[in-house]
Amino acid sequence: MSSPDTLPLLDFHPETESFRDEVLTGLRDDPKHLPSKFFYDERGSKLFDAICELDEYYLTRTELAIMKMHLGAMVDALGPRVRLVEYGSGSSLKTRLLLDHLPRLAGYVPIDISREHLLHAAEEIAAQYPDVPILPVCADYTSDYRLPDPDGDVERTVVYYPGSTVGNFTPDTARTFLTHMAKQVGPRGGLLIGVDLQKDEAVLRAAYNDAQGVTAAFNKNLLRRINRQLEADFDLDRFRHEAVYNAAEGRVEMYLVSESAQRVAVEGVGVSFEAGERILTEYSYKYTVDGFADLADRAGWSVETVWTDDQELFSVQYAERKA
Ligand code: AVJ
Repeated sequence: MSSPDTLPLLDFHPETESFRDEVLTGLRDDPKHLPSKFFYDERGSKLFDAICELDEYYLTRTELAIMKMHLGAMVDALGPRVRLVEYGSGSSLKTRLLLDHLPRLAGYVPIDISREHLLHAAEEIAAQYPDVPILPVCADYTSDYRLPDPDGDVERTVVYYPGSTVGNFTPDTARTFLTHMAKQVGPRGGLLIGVDLQKDEAVLRAAYNDAQGVTAAFNKNLLRRINRQLEADFDLDRFRHEAVYNAAEGRVEMYLVSESAQRVAVEGVGVSFEAGERILTEYSYKYTVDGFADLADRAGWSVETVWTDDQELFSVQYAERKA
């Protein structure tokens, strides 16, 4: 049986490599931007978990309901002896549904950029599923890293990519990433992916501008993290959260807006802001069912099944690697 200190963590040290460089590059660019993958330090991961509980944030509970409703069909599609790879595993709540029902699972490989969060979740899962080899990987899953091989028979590799995190990428980048993923899973590989759908703008606006301000705190945590991990002096009270829906592009755009003209020092570099100037911190693309099928197709995947809720807010899709 696995115990916490025997979990074989594969650590690719994602943050030390690029945090500083990517932050500086984004803040020197015009318009300014910061990568959304850096939201998820320990505090950010907790704030994200809190977002998932919000009334306005329909994504998590809708995805969970779809999973529960169609679990049998999903498990049949995946089959036995799967090496299940989860990208951006976070707290792995939805994963437990799969772990509970997938027959003779060959291994579970949670991959997350946030080491503490990853280890905490992996330890809990290892304790609850003593018969499943748990092989955590700390990595930026958009970078180069290698998948661990479980002992024993592996029938096929399936990526589980819930939460509509694929929406953080522009469609071009998503296609590159999905192509890379198709190569990584190999022949007969599968993909079970959560994809948020296009819908009424008011629903989207509310989901990213919650009344309690949790999303605002999540967004601003990025500046707090930069202050903590780098030599920087952002005044969090002089930036505000903004989230808008860009209908032409089919995406929510999240910004941090400078409330006044100001100058911030980051690693010895002066960064000037005009009053009202924005830092883009996140895209969250919303797809149509046809739009995602087309994107997947161009990345070497064939979407086999699309499950949705009755309001068609969200979808869980099963795709197979094309030969
Ligand atoms: C985890 C990327 C799917 O885009 O909805 C939540 C992150 N940002 N609230 C999303 C997020 C603001 C979330 N994803």
